[in-house]
Amino acid sequence: MKIRENIHHVGVIDEKVRIFHGYETPIGTTYNAYLIIDDKITLIDFVKAPFASELLSNIRSVIGDKPIDYFICNHVEPDHSGALPLICGAYPNAVVYGTAACERELAAYYPGCKYQFVKVGAGSTLCTGKYNFKFMPMPMVHWPDSMSTYLEEEGILFSNDALGQHIGTGELLDHEINLGSLLDRAGDYYANIVLPFGMQVSKLLDSVSELDISLVCPSHGVVLEKSIPDMIKKYRDWSGNFVDPTRAVTVYDTMWGTTRKMAARISEEWKVKGVFVEEINLSERHYSYAMSRILEAKYIFVGSPTLNNNMLPTVSAFLTYMKGLKPRGERVGMAFGSYGWSGESVSQVNDVLSSCGFEMLPPIKALWNI
Ligand code: FEO
Repeated sequence: MKIRENIHHVGVIDEKVRIFHGYETPIGTTYNAYLIIDDKITLIDFVKAPFASELLSNIRSVIGDKPIDYFICNHVEPDHSGALPLICGAYPNAVVYGTAACERELAAYYPGCKYQFVKVGAGSTLCTGKYNFKFMPMPMVHWPDSMSTYLEEEGILFSNDALGQHIGTGELLDHEINLGSLLDRAGDYYANIVLPFGMQVSKLLDSVSELDISLVCPSHGVVLEKSIPDMIKKYRDWSGNFVDPTRAVTVYDTMWGTTRKMAARISEEWKVKGVFVEEINLSERHYSYAMSRILEAKYIFVGSPTLNNNMLPTVSAFLTYMKGLKPRGERVGMAFGSYGWSGESVSQVNDVLSSCGFEMLPPIKALWNI
């Protein structure tokens, strides 16, 4: 699909994927790749391996039998590099451009694949005729190899995972999608993928602020044009650990309903204080949904009854996931839950929340029922 006269989207839609390394993707995703036609032809990023033939077909629908001269590999994670062996086989003379980490990681993932590699760093450029590409490494947004590429003459930032969204419903441009939904999906993505790397994201935003950007072409979801200022504002908030003092999320599971009743009572009490509490039952919603809702919430309440001297496994999985994503900012945590005799779960939940660095409210326990 043509984005501009010489800029084509040649990526694919994965409308069936529902779990993306532990992150629920209810509307699928895309693996975006971009073909830039100039005196020399450049492909930016690949797609996930099962879609390699579709990528090749998309490329050939644009350039026919012409060769590709350059591959720019912004990120090695296999959703963006899995098609590399097939595409390298089809275009054996193309030269791969990427960071030093990219070179190491590609060699590890695809040891049998032969290609010429050019290492690039901050300030490196590639001229393809009338176009100049400027490389902008963004290590740990969100892998060591991660990089953005800026096409100066068109004002296009190929941002890879940054500013992306898991939207696999077929829209190409942000004009085709409601702004609120777009920002919500970008928030889901940030909360579940990018959250641990706020400092690195802030550095990227500082670099990007010096560019004249008319389009952002991420590696997942829709191309950004009219939504760029709103998206950058959201990224500033999220990377700066903004939390909303009027929002709380209660994440819990329940055995016989007492912990659920406790969650409802907590909501009532905090509503009186002007705080909206969203309740999430982990038997009904995936923990990655909970993580999305937590992104901007100041208060995080987590409840579990005690089962066999422990918290419920659903709650344990959620806490492990959340702790790894390192939500920062001035957050407040609270543990709660019911028990019948030993009652260890609440102190266990309390310990994990405390280890996340949250200011802790006194835990609440209920014997049998409330
Ligand atoms: Fe979309 Fe980090 O891969």
